[in-house]
This record gives sequence, structure tokens and C-alpha cells, in this order.
Amino acid sequence: MLLATCYLLLATNMCGIIGYTGKKDAVSIILDGLRRLEYRGYDSAGVAFFGEKGIEVRRCRGRIRDLDALIEANKPFSPTGIGHTRWATHGKPSEDNAHPHRSDGIVLVHNGIIENYLDLKRRLQEEGFKFTSETDTEVLCHLINKHINPETPLEDAVRKALKDVRGAYAIAVMNEKEPGKIVGIRKDSPLVIGVGEGEFFIASDVPAFLNYSRNVIFLDEGEMVVITEGGMKITTLDGVLVHKNSESVSWSPAMAEKGGYKHFMLKEIFEQPRSIADTLRGRFYPESGEVNMEEFGIGTDDLKDIEKIFIVACGTSWHASLVGKYIIEELARVPVDVDIASEFRYRNPILGKSLFIAITQSGETADTLAAMREAKKRGAKTLTICNVVGSTAAREADAVFYTHSGPEIGVASTKAFTAQIIGLYLFAAGIAHMKGRINSNSATELLRDLLFLPEMIEKVLAKDSEILKIAKELFKAEDFLYLGRGINYPIALEGALKLKEISYIHAEGYPAGEMKHGPIALIDEAVPSVFLLPKDRLYEKVLSNIEEVRSRGGKIIAVTNDVDEDVCNRFDYCISVPDANPFLSTILMIVPLQLLAYHVGVLRGCDVDQPRNLAKSVTVE
Ligand code: AGP
Repeated sequence: MLLATCYLLLATNMCGIIGYTGKKDAVSIILDGLRRLEYRGYDSAGVAFFGEKGIEVRRCRGRIRDLDALIEANKPFSPTGIGHTRWATHGKPSEDNAHPHRSDGIVLVHNGIIENYLDLKRRLQEEGFKFTSETDTEVLCHLINKHINPETPLEDAVRKALKDVRGAYAIAVMNEKEPGKIVGIRKDSPLVIGVGEGEFFIASDVPAFLNYSRNVIFLDEGEMVVITEGGMKITTLDGVLVHKNSESVSWSPAMAEKGGYKHFMLKEIFEQPRSIADTLRGRFYPESGEVNMEEFGIGTDDLKDIEKIFIVACGTSWHASLVGKYIIEELARVPVDVDIASEFRYRNPILGKSLFIAITQSGETADTLAAMREAKKRGAKTLTICNVVGSTAAREADAVFYTHSGPEIGVASTKAFTAQIIGLYLFAAGIAHMKGRINSNSATELLRDLLFLPEMIEKVLAKDSEILKIAKELFKAEDFLYLGRGINYPIALEGALKLKEISYIHAEGYPAGEMKHGPIALIDEAVPSVFLLPKDRLYEKVLSNIEEVRSRGGKIIAVTNDVDEDVCNRFDYCISVPDANPFLSTILMIVPLQLLAYHVGVLRGCDVDQPRNLAKSVTVE
């Protein structure tokens, strides 16, 4: 269990941190570093530096160029400073919520999620600390300020403060009384040090300072660094000295932005264990079988008399909606209608006492927004499952559940899709338990299964080279069929969409039972068929569908959690995945199809991050 929960401690990059101390113009270096981190997605930015009157802070909602303009007006020279690009997780995008945050002389930037920030905030307010933002980060400033004094250097105040903190954080912090010093610490959120000639950099990611130094030290879990003009010291959180050698990074800046991956899409496929761990963080309690329904922002009274649920979305998010239908109806026994948003808004829907759920990664998809407005007009309660804090959907819905996947840059949605399924799984388990449809034992089992999911996904990702081999044999095909039954029918649809949108191959997803009603006419040796074959109650039926295809000369690619070698040997290609409950199996089944689509797209020379004719967010009808 301990091993399985280790992923629940890992956090994805959501914000960008850069700090500098040395002899050069820190503010210019910091602004340049923040520009290098722009690819990560952000909604606000800021810098703090030692000026004549102590530490000055400049920050704004918007882009780096806006921050640049704010600083240009009165450009200071300072040898030490920190900067930040914010991807909002707690608190809307605004100047007040932008980093750096301060508490008197303590000024700090943070990347991660403080799980117990509300408790800490209440306690600090009772002690008289005044809060000026909605963020979780601000509690760190006040906690450190509470411990700082002339006898307690910044690093010791940080150590004392963090003893009360639960969550994931990478922090860079300065104390007005200690000019030139920056303290950095990481716990489940990355922090790297750049070593220059008489100067040091600290950042969330290598691209931020790659133009100035290629000598990098990656901090490990729970390590703290104290950098001053005179040098650098690395210790554990308890103060034990740690010796680390710097390593030289050969990446180009472009490679560094993708964390060493060739494309954002591949990086985001491999981020799914962490994206799911972050989306789960603080939202369920396996021991009691409880889901933290507050995270959905819907009161139990609202849910009690819901007679029907509508889930509406577009594209990949619609596929997640279809998976959600199976899970909610199976667990909570509440009828669910799933609609494509552009259809829902024009079909004069009958809503009655219903809950309307809009699923949207960007929160800006025009058809989805219009459908949600239509539902609101007809009196439905609206919830959105969304990945972007402060997006239009998040602002207009009555309630929001945020997936914490971090910015999804690749046009083809991958990590957001699996995080959406996790959101729907939690929601289904929560309302099923609330309505007494499942007992505490079943609820506990459903939630305990989540603890092992990130590791299981890692096992599937480890098959990447095996999947590349399959792609090399099939990438010239001009037609693909994807087939699945039950809850894996939407996974067949999603696998087909992934392939068609990045490789431009004609690919269709179908319920496997539909083969004989038409699609089987397409089968011949030139048309590969991808089958989702989980060992569930429909296993034998899918096997017979596979036989239908094989007897007509079709190539079979099976994705299965069946460990029987003889079964796997019956197919032209077989990708085995770990066994999980039927709901979470969908996530393990889609990962190989994401990788297959990615490799086929690359082999066909397609721009997999920016496929032709497509936009990341379709903000027009
Ligand atoms: C999926 O890979 C596509 N990029 C597209 O279908 C996308 O899912 C759809 O446009 C919906 O976007 P949203 O989740 O941001 O609303």
C-alpha cells in the first residue's frame, strides 16, 4: 500500500518558478526565465527583488509582456530576486492571487498544492495574520513569518513552518532582513539549481536558466538549498548536509521545454500517473470509503432529489462522458443521458429535476458553453469537470470539479481525458454511497483501487517500445477499426479519435457487437482492427467478434488484461495491461492506444502536437 500511495505524493508542474542571485541584473534574468517557462501555460506572473526599500514585488494577471511593461516603467537593478508564472489551482486568476506572495518581510513563490491550507489559514487568522489572497500559497508566507526572528535564519524558519504543512510544494523564498539569500525546498514538486560563475539559479524546470548555465543540480525529495552570493548549501529538511555534484545538461531549450520528450503529447501521456495522483489528492479517504463531495461543490440536498443526470461535452471529453454514464448508472443507479454539446443545445431537451454536467478540458469550448447555458435556462443545476481554473465554464457553472492535470499543450487530449474519468469515478462513488446504493465496504474497495492506479499506468507506459514496434508495422494502413463493448465502447471511440486526429488515417470506433451490422464489410488484410478485450462479463462475446474479423483476413491488435499466453498468441498483436476493476480498466486500456496513435503519427511525419485543421480549444461554433 505504501508503494502504491507514493504516486499520491507526486505533483505535476502547474506553475513556473525562477530565482537568481549573483552579480548580474536579476530582474532581467528572471523575466527571461519566465518567458522560457511560458509553454507550461499560466494566467498571471510576478517578480520580487531586493531594492532600495527592502523587497519589492511586481505582479499582474496576464502575460509576461504585461509584467515586463509594469517593470519597464521603473526598471530596478537588483542582484537577487525570484519570479513566478501561475497556473491557478486555488483561487481565480487575479493580481491578488498572483505570486510572489508576502507576509511582512517574507516573500515567496510556490508550485504545488497545500492540502491542509484551509485549516492552516483559519489558525493563522485566529493568530491575527491578515490574508490578501484566495490562494493556498499565502499560508506558507505567514507560517514562515510566524517563525522568523533575528536569531532564526530564514532556512530554520522554513523548516519549522513546513512541519505543519501537508501537500506538494516547490518553494523559493526570501527574507528582507537577509539580502542576497534565497531558500528553496522541494517536496513532490520539482526544483532544480543552476550553477554559474559566482551566481546561482533556482527553478521549477531547466529551460528557465538554460541560456545562462548548463550545470544543473536536481534537488531530491525533501531537500533544501540555501543560495547566497557567496555560495550554496544543500541539506535535508532536518538540516543534514547533502553533497551533490552538478551535471551538464545537453538539451536544446526546445527539448528542455518538453522535459526531454520529443513532443508535448508524449510528455503528457507519460504525465498521466502524476496527473491522476494530483487530481485525486485530498479528494477521497480510502479507509472510510468517503469521497470529499465538497470538491464537487454540490450540497447533498441538491443531489438527493436529482432524478436524472445529463453529461454534455465535445470530442474526447464526450468520450469521457460516455464512460461516466456507465460508471454512474452502474454504481448510483441514476439515469444518465450523454449528449454531444452541438446536438444537445438544439434538441429541445426535457430537463426536469436534473443535474447537468459539462466536461471540458479548456473550459472554453463554444458548443459546450452554449449547452450549459441552455440547461441553466431550463432550470438545471450545472456542474463542470474542467482543467482550467477561472475558465468561462468554471465561472458560469453552479459548481466546479477541477482536474489537476496541469496545462495540456498537445492538441490531442490525453492526460485530461483520464483525469476526467477519475473525476466521474469519484463522483459516481460519492453519490452511490450517499444514496445508499453501495455499502461502506464496496465504497472502500472502489477507493482503495485508486491507490494502485498510477503504478499500473506506469506498467503500461513501460510497454512504449513494444507499441512502437506495432506502429512500425501498421503505420502505412489507410483505415483502422477500433472495437469494444460496454464501458470500453467509448474507449474504442477515443482510440479511433486519437489516431485520426494526429495521423490523418481514417479510423472508426464501433461497438464490437455492431460488426455484423455493417462495418465487417470493411474488413480485409489491409484494415487493422483494434479490440479492447478486458476479462469481464463480455469477454467471450468480444472474442467471437475477433474471430469474425480474423476469419476474413483482418489483422487483430488486442489490448487485454488476460494473462493467458495462449489467448494472446491468437492475435497478430497483443498488448497486455494490468487487471483493475472494469471502471479503472478503461484508463489502462486507453494508454496503449494513445501511444499507438502518437507513434503512427510520428512515423507518418505528422505534426502530432499541432495537427492540421485542429485547435486546442474550439471557441467558435
Ligand atoms: C481531443 O483530442 C480533441 N482535442 C478535441 O476533441 C477536444 O476533446 C474537444 O474539442 C473538447 O475540448 P474541451 O475538452 O476543451 O471542451
